[in-house]
Amino acid sequence: MALDHAKLVRSLRLAYSAERAASFAYQGHAGSLRDPEEKARVKQIEEDEWDHRRAVGEIMEEYGVPVSAYLEGKYWLIGRMIGLSCYVIGRFMPYFFAGKLESGNVCEYFKMMHYFHALGIEKHDEILYEMGIKEKEHEVYFLRMVENERWFPLFERIFSWGVNHRVNDVDLENVLPLEGSKAYCQSDAGAKKDAT
Ligand SMILES: [Fe+2]
Ligand SMILES: [Fe+2]
Repeated sequence: MALDHAKLVRSLRLAYSAERAASFAYQGHAGSLRDPEEKARVKQIEEDEWDHRRAVGEIMEEYGVPVSAYLEGKYWLIGRMIGLSCYVIGRFMPYFFAGKLESGNVCEYFKMMHYFHALGIEKHDEILYEMGIKEKEHEVYFLRMVENERWFPLFERIFSWGVNHRVNDVDLENVLPLEGSKAYCQSDAGAKKDAT
């Protein structure tokens, strides 16, 4: 069965390639950290992103969605460059920008769920839900690592992400169950309504 949903096909192909970019970036990030505990946590996050790529790849295979050679190349380069840059930009920025990136990823999987629902397909709900929540966990972890740093308030203001700038409507303290999660990420405006 082919997926008759251009936005869904685009999101799947993009996520597949971008997840590898994230893994590469976290390889560099983990390598640049000194604290063994922090290193191990970022390594674990890298593994999560490989799992995501595998899961997205399986869905694409099921529907015969081809991997984009262009996106693979583009995101290979982006991932490698970010990974390398972690060795030279200090401790704060890799955490901050990883958190900001993750904040944008959260809704990607919930939106895919909505797109599948528009086609009457619900069997991927669980894996998409798990991945969306996992991205939120990554976002919150990165936020916690830098929120008390001197530079944080300035970066939060400039890049519109942080303690007071929420860019998705998932709250880890109060996670909706799978059945209720259809409410997440229904619109960009909705996702940003808490932003201050
Ligand atoms: Fe991911
Ligand atoms: Fe992530």
